[in-house]
Amino acid sequence: MGHFNSIIGQSPALDSLIRSAKMVAATDVTVLIKGETGTGKEVLATAIQKSSPRASKAFITLNCAALPESLIESELFGHKKGSFTGATANKQGLFQVADGGTLFLDEINSLPVSIQAKLLRFLESGECLSVGDIKPYKVDVRVIAATNADLNKQIDAGEFRQDLYFRLNVVPLELPPLAQRTEDIEHLIKHFLTFFADIHYITAPKFSKQALKILKGYQWPGNIRELRNLCERLSILLAGKTIEPENLPHEFSVYSRNAKATPFTLPEVGLQLDALEADLIHQALSRTQGNRSKSAKLLGISRDTLLYRMQKHGYASH
Ligand SMILES: Nc1ncnc2c1ncn2[C@@H]1O[C@H](COP(=O)(O)OP(=O)(O)OP(=O)(O)O)[C@@H](O)[C@H]1O
Ligand SMILES: [Mg+2]
Repeated sequence: MGHFNSIIGQSPALDSLIRSAKMVAATDVTVLIKGETGTGKEVLATAIQKSSPRASKAFITLNCAALPESLIESELFGHKKGSFTGATANKQGLFQVADGGTLFLDEINSLPVSIQAKLLRFLESGECLSVGDIKPYKVDVRVIAATNADLNKQIDAGEFRQDLYFRLNVVPLELPPLAQRTEDIEHLIKHFLTFFADIHYITAPKFSKQALKILKGYQWPGNIRELRNLCERLSILLAGKTIEPENLPHEFSVYSRNAKATPFTLPEVGLQLDALEADLIHQALSRTQGNRSKSAKLLGISRDTLLYRMQKHGYASH
C-alpha cells in the first residue's frame, strides 16, 4: 500500500497512526480524522481512499464550512424540481455522485445541526432524502470525515449531535501536532527542500545546526503546512545557501533567544550596546585565536555578519 509513502515521518506517534489507517483502508468502516490545521488530514484521507477497494471509484470532497446552511443540504442529498425558489430542475446530491465510492466530509464540525440528523440517518440505514422529496433513496458510499475542532466541546455546547459523533468515531485517527513529533521535522524538511528544488529548478539550501535547533523548538501553530511554506520561501530566497537563524522569519526570533537563553539582564542604569557588541566580538576572537568562523559560531551569527560587524567596529578588513 504505497499510497501511505506520501505521508512523511517516522515518529512513533505517526507510525502507529499509519498502521491503523492501513487496516481501516481495507474496510468500508466510517473514519473520523482529527487534528489541528495543517497536520495532514486531507493527505491521510486521500491515502486511505487510494489504498481502499474503492480506489478506482468516485472520491468526492465536500468542505462543510464552505457552503451556507441553505445550500449544503441540497448539495449533499440533492433536490426535487420546484422544491425551493431557483430549483428549476431535479439535482443530484453528492451522495449520488459518490455512489460506489467515497465521500470525504472535510470540516465536519461545521455541518449544521439540522443536516447532522440526515447524515446520521444515512450512516445508520444507507438512506438519503432529496430536498422536497418524500421517498428516500439508497446509496453505497463510504464516509471519511475530518475535523480540526474538538467535537466533544461542540457536543457540550449543543452544536454537534452526540449520536452522530459516536457513529462517525468508530475508528478515530488523530494526527499529532507537529510540535509533538519533532523527530519528523528533519525528514519533512529534507522532503520539502528536495521537492521545491525540483519544481523550481534551483539548488536546495541547507539549514545550519542552529537554525534546525530553533525549528525543533518552535510551536508550529500552522503545523506541516507552515513548515512546507517556510521551506518553499527559503528555497527560493536562499537557493544553494546555508540558512542561519537570522534568515528565519521574525516569529522564530523568540525561540532563537529561548534556545540559547541569555545570561544577561539589562542593568538598571542601561548599557552601551555598541560597546558591548565590540567587547563580545573581541572576546570571541581572542578565545578562538582570531578564527572568524569559530567566533561567528560562538556569537550565534553568520561569518558574513561577523565580518560586517568587525568592520563596523574598526577592525581591519584583513
Ligand atoms: N506527513 C506529511 N508528509 C508530507 N506532507 C504533508 C504531510 N502532512 C501534511 N503535509 C502537507 O502539509 C499541507 C497541509 O496538509 P493537509 O491539507 O492535509 O492538512 P489539513 O490537516 O487538512 O489542514 P486543514 O485543517 O487546515 O485543512 C499540505 O501541503 C500537505 O501536502
Ligand atoms: Mg484540510
